[in-house]
Amino acid sequence: MPLDIIIGAQWGDEGKGHITDALAAQADIVARFSGGDNAGHTITVGDDIFKLHLIPSGIIHKDVTCLIGGGVVLNPAVMLREMSALAARGVDVSPERLKLSGSAHLITPAHIALDKAAEEQRGDSAIGTTQRGIGPTYTDKTARTGLRAELLADPEGLADALQQHITAKNRILQEIYGGEPLDATAVAASFSQFAQQLRPYLVDGPHFLHEALADGRNVLAEGAQGTFLDLDNGTYPYVTSSHPTTGGVLTGLGVGPNVIRRVIGIAKAFSSRVGSGPFPCELDGEMALRLRGTGANPWDEYGTTTGRPRRVGWLDVVMLRHSARLNGFDELVLTKLDILSGLETLQLGVAYELDGRTLTHFPANPTDLARCRPVYQEVPGWREDITAVRHPADLPPNARRYVDLIAEFCAVPITCVSVGPGREQIIKM
Ligand code: IMP
Repeated sequence: MPLDIIIGAQWGDEGKGHITDALAAQADIVARFSGGDNAGHTITVGDDIFKLHLIPSGIIHKDVTCLIGGGVVLNPAVMLREMSALAARGVDVSPERLKLSGSAHLITPAHIALDKAAEEQRGDSAIGTTQRGIGPTYTDKTARTGLRAELLADPEGLADALQQHITAKNRILQEIYGGEPLDATAVAASFSQFAQQLRPYLVDGPHFLHEALADGRNVLAEGAQGTFLDLDNGTYPYVTSSHPTTGGVLTGLGVGPNVIRRVIGIAKAFSSRVGSGPFPCELDGEMALRLRGTGANPWDEYGTTTGRPRRVGWLDVVMLRHSARLNGFDELVLTKLDILSGLETLQLGVAYELDGRTLTHFPANPTDLARCRPVYQEVPGWREDITAVRHPADLPPNARRYVDLIAEFCAVPITCVSVGPGREQIIKM
């Protein structure tokens, strides 16, 4: 009963969609377990580029069934939009191939309005959310006042729940934030349309997976966001409101640890972060521009969901080792190694300095992390373009050395390295 898990090892945007797409070729089911359309997964197939926010990346493979699990927060309008965009490109998005767990929570226009209003009120200390309503939807879930996707099968229950929900949120929007109220009847009418279209997709998520796993089918859990955006283990409060870590897979899909075959961490060969919060190895100036790219390519460092330029920096292996321990990585995949080609030397963040002390572990307190200065180990770079390399033996020796150093530091084998966005640009090490 194998479950393979893909986890973002850093702050998101590690290239999980690209690797999920590659591994989905051997999977029967690909399941999203947390987050919502704050995610942005880019998959390149030949000249075709697919950008997905909600629907699992496995949908591109015609023999794969996709599940949106109970740990996800779902904007039904976004799901329907993505479905029709995929259908227009010939991808089958019928209920036989795409399933929605009834216990996922629905994002409403009120959640989105609250996300925006709260960010505005935070001013200079804004989290830099994607403004997709993620935080307010998980807040309602935790407060036990959320709207679960199973309501899509109960037209009257859905209409009543939405009336109550919008009325309650309008009070907050108007009285706390001084904003405009939403029209509850209009929201209920649009959700009634969504419900008609999405009802056939509803399933009992855990039961669906338990049966599939008992039948020996291969399930791939597709992570969204990254470890350091985790509500408990990330750089709080500059985090998302879910658990994009291995723990979140188990609760988000409703399966036990005994079904796990391997946990694969995806790490970029350098660091990036969107939004606010501490980032010890952050770079600015020329080198930041060099790592970020101009934005001309879809894989440059600009948010897939918001288009914001990402903050970038050297690879922080203290963080990466912590991530490996938090998630129990069996292996690591290193992406975007090609971006480092042409640099004379590279720096690896191997420790921090805090108040005159050297820290070799990742501090749990984000205020401490914000005061940490990186301690770098300089390593030689390589000049060669590596985008056409397909075998590890053909990598320049210094590129090999960089990969080996990271694996050694994290005590986790690096099993694959990606050298470009194409399906064929993944080297098995
Ligand atoms: P939220 O998830 O929209 O509430 O945003 C909270 C924080 O997580 C912000 O810093 C976002 O930029 C960040 N974030 C959320 N989703 C992603 C993602 O898929 N990639 C990178 N950062 C993300």
